[in-house]
Amino acid sequence: MMERKFAIAIDGPAASGKSTAAKGVSRILDFLYIDTGAMYRAFTLFMLEKGKDPKSEEDALALLPDFRMKEDKDGHVYLDGRDVTDRIRERDVSSLVSYACAYKAVREKLVDIQREMAEGESVVMDGRDIGTVVLPDADLKIFQIASVEARAKRRYLENRQKGIAGTLEEIEKEIEKRDYIDSHRENSPLTKAKDAIVLDTSDMTIQEEIDTIVSLFKKKVGDLWKDTEQSL
Ligand code: DC
Repeated sequence: MMERKFAIAIDGPAASGKSTAAKGVSRILDFLYIDTGAMYRAFTLFMLEKGKDPKSEEDALALLPDFRMKEDKDGHVYLDGRDVTDRIRERDVSSLVSYACAYKAVREKLVDIQREMAEGESVVMDGRDIGTVVLPDADLKIFQIASVEARAKRRYLENRQKGIAGTLEEIEKEIEKRDYIDSHRENSPLTKAKDAIVLDTSDMTIQEEIDTIVSLFKKKVGDLWKDTEQSL
């Protein structure tokens, strides 16, 4: 009998702590972690490197067939074989990513890649449209939210650790702007699935977030998970 595979979808606005929580959950459950925002970031970087304007849909569509990216098990992202994991977090990419990811053809191609990556695996996937579009049958759907202040502070500390410049105020403005673009454009990808559980993480530590998601998952799948654990 084929081993039962599981999927956890974690959606939410920019810098709500999704990727850190998703990574932690994937380690505990030994699932594959897939960071979908990283793919839209990689496409934005690809456009910039080709000297194109991410605000131009025409340019985006022209480049799309040449876009080759890979994401490994630990969330490292490669563009044409080069490791761009840190580069795609820099501010030029962050401030332009909302444009390139709004084009239908770009979304379709990346959603295809995301589904392919998830096939035959137990996964934790984070993004905006995972519970609604990419994995509508996920076993657990989390819609993670946090106040702008809490999100800006997290991203600021994360950036400082990575040596990425920017003040707390600048990051707060950037997050507000990105939230606005993400939620006001036509067909915004950020929508809560009907069956998603809302998790407000403003006052939670990362460990609390991870523990909460793992226990929600175990509760949700119940005996199915216990059977799998015993057969490990
Ligand atoms: O999660 P993040 O900040 O790395 O995401 C970067 C951008 O990609 C963000 O502006 C929204 C977009 N995105 C998307 O449209 N759909 C996803 N599934 C994931 C991210």
